[in-house]
This record gives sequence, C-alpha cells and structure tokens, in this order.
Amino acid sequence: MASPVKTDLAGPRIDKGLDDVYVKESSICFVDGQRGRLLYRGYDIRDLATHSTFEETAFLLLQGNLPNREELEKAKGDLAASRTLPPSVLRLLRSMPEHAPPMDVLRTAVSYLYNFDPERDDTTRAANLRKAWRLVGRFATIVATYERMRKGQRVVRPDPKLGHAEDFLRMMKGKRPDPVSARMMDVALILYADHAMNASTFAATVAASTLSDLYSTIIAAISTLKGPLHGGAIEAAFEAIERIGRPEGAEEFVLNTLRNKERVFGFGHRVYKTYDPRALILKEFARRLGEVNGDDTYYRIATAIEDTVVRELASRQIYPNVDFYSGLVFHGLGIPKDLFTPLFAVSRIAGWTAQVIEYWEDNRLLRPLDWYVGPKDLVYTPIDERS
Ligand code: CMC
Repeated sequence: MASPVKTDLAGPRIDKGLDDVYVKESSICFVDGQRGRLLYRGYDIRDLATHSTFEETAFLLLQGNLPNREELEKAKGDLAASRTLPPSVLRLLRSMPEHAPPMDVLRTAVSYLYNFDPERDDTTRAANLRKAWRLVGRFATIVATYERMRKGQRVVRPDPKLGHAEDFLRMMKGKRPDPVSARMMDVALILYADHAMNASTFAATVAASTLSDLYSTIIAAISTLKGPLHGGAIEAAFEAIERIGRPEGAEEFVLNTLRNKERVFGFGHRVYKTYDPRALILKEFARRLGEVNGDDTYYRIATAIEDTVVRELASRQIYPNVDFYSGLVFHGLGIPKDLFTPLFAVSRIAGWTAQVIEYWEDNRLLRPLDWYVGPKDLVYTPIDERS
C-alpha cells in the first residue's frame, strides 16, 4: 500500500500557519479580507453595530436567525439569570492568588464552573446551546466580580433588568453607567462576538473534534486568545500608546519598531488586507471618548501611530485591526488594562460556542501531520557510557 506521506528528500509542503487551509464549511461568519467586510449569519457588522444589541447578536450567532420580540425577551431573561454565579465559584474567585492576571482567573473559573453545570454530561445540541448561553452570561460576571474583589470592593450582584453590557459595567464599577457608555460597551461586545476560524476558535475546534466537552473547548480558546498575536494585542497596543506618552513621539516609535524588525501591535491581519471594519467603528468611539473625557492625548498618539504605520506598511497591506482602538475605548470607559483581553472573551464566548456547536454537526478529528527531520537509527547508549 502506498504511504500517504511523500518520502522524497525535499519533503512535503509545510503549511506553517495553515494560511490557506479550510477545516469546515460554516454559515456563521463571513470575513471579506479584500473589501474589509464582516458578516454574522449574513448581516453586515455595521448594521448590527447600529441597530442590534449584544443579546440579539449572540442569539443570532448561536441560533442562526434574528429573534422575534418574544424570543429576544426570553433570551435576555435566560442570559440575565445566567449572570448569577454559583456561591462556590465566588469562593474560588476570592481564593485566587493576589495579583492573578484576570485572563488566568477567567480560565480557572470556567474550568471550575463545568462541575456546576447541571447538563455538563449531556452532549445533545439543545443542551450545548443552553450551556453556551449560560457561559455567555457568566463570563461577564466573572470578569466584573474579580475586578471588584481584587480591589477589596463590595461585590455587586447582577441586575436582571439591565442589558448585558450595561450590567457588566455596573457590576464592575458599582454604579450604573451613563447611556452612552453602556451603548459603546454593547457595540464593542457586538464587534468582538465572532470572527470565523481565528486562532482561539481553531483551538476550541481542535478540542471539540476529539468530542471533548463544551467547557474544555472554551478553556482551549481562552488560553489561545491570551497571546499578544491574538487577543493579547489589545493590551500590547495600549501599552505602546501609554509608553509613547505624547503624539510627537509616535512616528519615531513606529520607525524604531520597524527598524528593529518588531511588530506594531494592533496592526496587520491574516485575513484583512485592508482596514478592519471593526477598527473604523472603534476609532470613532475612541475619538468621542477622548472628547467627552476632556483628554484626547491617547487618541492623538494612536492616530499618529496609525498614520505612520499606514504610510510605511500599506504597500504590504498592513492596516489597523480591531485590537488597536478597542484598548482606547475600554480605557475611556474606565476599564483597567488587564481586563481588555478578558473583555474580548466576554464577547467572543458567543462565537466560540456557536462555532464549536456547528463543528459537532459534522465532526471529524482534527489531526494534522508534522514532517520529521530529526535523526533516525541512533544506537541507544547506556547512561554510564554517555559523556
Ligand atoms: N507590524 C510590523 N510588521 C508586521 C505586522 C505588524 N503589526 N504584521 C505583519 N508584519 C510583517 C511581518 O513582520 C512579516 O514581515 P517579513 O515578511 O518581512 O518577515 C510580514 O508582515 C508577514 O507577517 P506574518 O506574521 O507572516 O503575517 P500574518 O498574516 O500571519 O500576520 C498577525 C497576522 C496578526 C500575526 C500580524 O499582523 C501581527 O503580528 N500583528 C501584530 C499583533 C496583532 O495586532 N494581533 C491582533 C490580530 S487581529 C485580532 C485578534 O486576533 O485579536
């Protein structure tokens, strides 16, 4: 029988980065990287950002259609109920080591939560959709509650009467946000809710393909999102803005970074070869927040970075991605830097679960190959004879 692996000396083509590999058909998310267009279930992200809410968008991603009024009210009620954490999870959050990064706290809490899900061993699609909705609700509370605990502040319980984004800000800050801040948070959650087969979704899909449970797939996703080439880029991009300190320093910073062959975080994308449509919306929010808060220094630094990167790298199709201006928006909303990437997860949990549940409809183990280039036929040396 012929070997499936090519054995000529040159070896097979290595798909480092898996750039052009398709692992499933999907009807959840369409990214047009050439035209800078993003659709969820066929709806343009700009329309969803203008007219929708995070609850409605999460319903759309998970269920496949926009809800009618009755469906939306039920979904909102279920989501609000899911924001309440089991008491033992609150105890777990209290017991986390001092200075534990919120992203790691989120990963640990999700792992622990699995044990309290009444349907944890039910692998039907209906049960997975209910688990997904519970996870969407709980992510926001975990992040907001841990923030208050680590500051020694009183924990604020969820308010089921409020929208998800508004309640997140309220649970985190201890008071209701103004309507403009609540709406900006809501739109940021809509923009981050899914992005096709990105690295964290792929990690979740690999875990799913072994028929592991939904919670385990999400832990793989959170772990993958953390890195600075993915969701960690929000924090890295914001740190650069902080470090630069004044708009006049931005051009030199970019030129030095490029001279040193380093990356400017918040720019470039595997799929978008033009402006990321989400970045355009977030840029306008960042501008408005600078104005409202009476300090546009960071916004001016950011636009100076953008001008220089685009001048230098547009010929290589490198433009701002979603993570460049989102940090400024979160900062403008009074959110600490190490919550930026966890907040990405608070939104993306909708997409992760939708994508995994879709993959399970036609599951096949994901198991690529590597091409062995090490030595062969070595003779085993007993330990006393080794130099
Ligand atoms: N700054 C400077 N150079 C860059 C950048 C950047 N932000 N992005 C790509 N390049 C260069 C890179 O150095 C390489 O150059 P060369 O060919 O000379 O070695 C070339 O472009 C191709 O890089 P790549 O890593 O093979 O390209 P990719 O399409 O896989 O890049 C990326 C995607 C996101 C990893 C990359 O653009 C990057 O590292 N950006 C900075 C991190 C970042 O902002 N990540 C967020 C991604 S979008 C949202 C999300 O997933 O969270």
